[in-house]
Amino acid sequence: MDRGRVFSGMRPSGRLHLGNWMGALVNWVALQEEYECIFCAVDVHALTTSTPADTRDIQANIREMTLDWLAAGIDPQRSIVFVQSWVPEVMVLHTLLGMVTPLGWLLRVPTFKDRVRQMEETEESVSYGLVGYPVLMTADIILYKADTVPVGEDQMPHLELAREIVRRFNYLFGPTFAEPKGKLTETPLIVGLDGQQKMSKSLDNHVELAVSPEETRRRVLTAFTDPQRLRRTDPGRPEVCNVYALHQLFSQGKVEDIYQQCTGATRGCVECKGILAEGINNALAEFRERRREIAARSGYVEEVLAEGARRASVIARETIAEVREKMGLLGNPSLAALRDF
Ligand code: TRP
Repeated sequence: MDRGRVFSGMRPSGRLHLGNWMGALVNWVALQEEYECIFCAVDVHALTTSTPADTRDIQANIREMTLDWLAAGIDPQRSIVFVQSWVPEVMVLHTLLGMVTPLGWLLRVPTFKDRVRQMEETEESVSYGLVGYPVLMTADIILYKADTVPVGEDQMPHLELAREIVRRFNYLFGPTFAEPKGKLTETPLIVGLDGQQKMSKSLDNHVELAVSPEETRRRVLTAFTDPQRLRRTDPGRPEVCNVYALHQLFSQGKVEDIYQQCTGATRGCVECKGILAEGINNALAEFRERRREIAARSGYVEEVLAEGARRASVIARETIAEVREKMGLLGNPSLAALRDF
């Protein structure tokens, strides 16, 4: 049996943090062993929510994110690593899928409804492109005939919609695409340093991967702990402390002691956070070394992304030819010579 094909994407928002690493990247790296993988910096998706000020940073953000991927162990020899807009066929497929996607389906997507609510508060206008976000995501996946899509829980509604679009396309035009399946990452939710919400760059409760050990320590020292532990002599409650939750991921072999010292009030939170920072720094040492080394190779990231786009294009062109034929858009064959697809 053929290995399945994996596709996943991240919006290029700049340097990644511990949540991205534990929640997605570690999983992506592992999937390379079993599947043919395609990893995409979805720059067009980034445009659906960016302000013009953010878009000025897109190119730099693509580079920073790609460096993080490569340093984490994404292997461009094995996997295709590329930038979404560099293979513009995805925009063709997006338009064509738009013709078979009922608007009602899109308006019901929970992430869309949340976003509209936020935008209404700030009086921003909701773009046509934002409504089509899941259609573009579907186009990403099926353009490359991927069947397995590693994503977080929040993306599952998008994948359900992708399956519905695929079913409808296949019903209208004949069997063409496999229904893509979401593959949830088995990582515990990484709570941010505020102890309240998921670790996220926009909430500024994150620890960036590519920072110095000192900066990591400084960040970790700002973490909230058990709010009821006011004095050093108060016993702490590890089960409600997000520093303790992070210890479980980064302080192997020390967790039991840390639990005892917290509940017995024999160690204060500052010192406890110092141990966590050390654990995180140890876990990231190899990543950081590799990142420095890759960043120093002049032109390397650019070449990886160019080669990724070349390889992705080969698949994309075939799919577009097939879709055009199925949808009755293959006209005068001699016109094909005018364009690449
Ligand atoms: N919407 C995804 C996110 O915000 C990013 C994404 C775009 C994606 N296209 C994709 C993920 C295709 C998986 C497959 O996380």
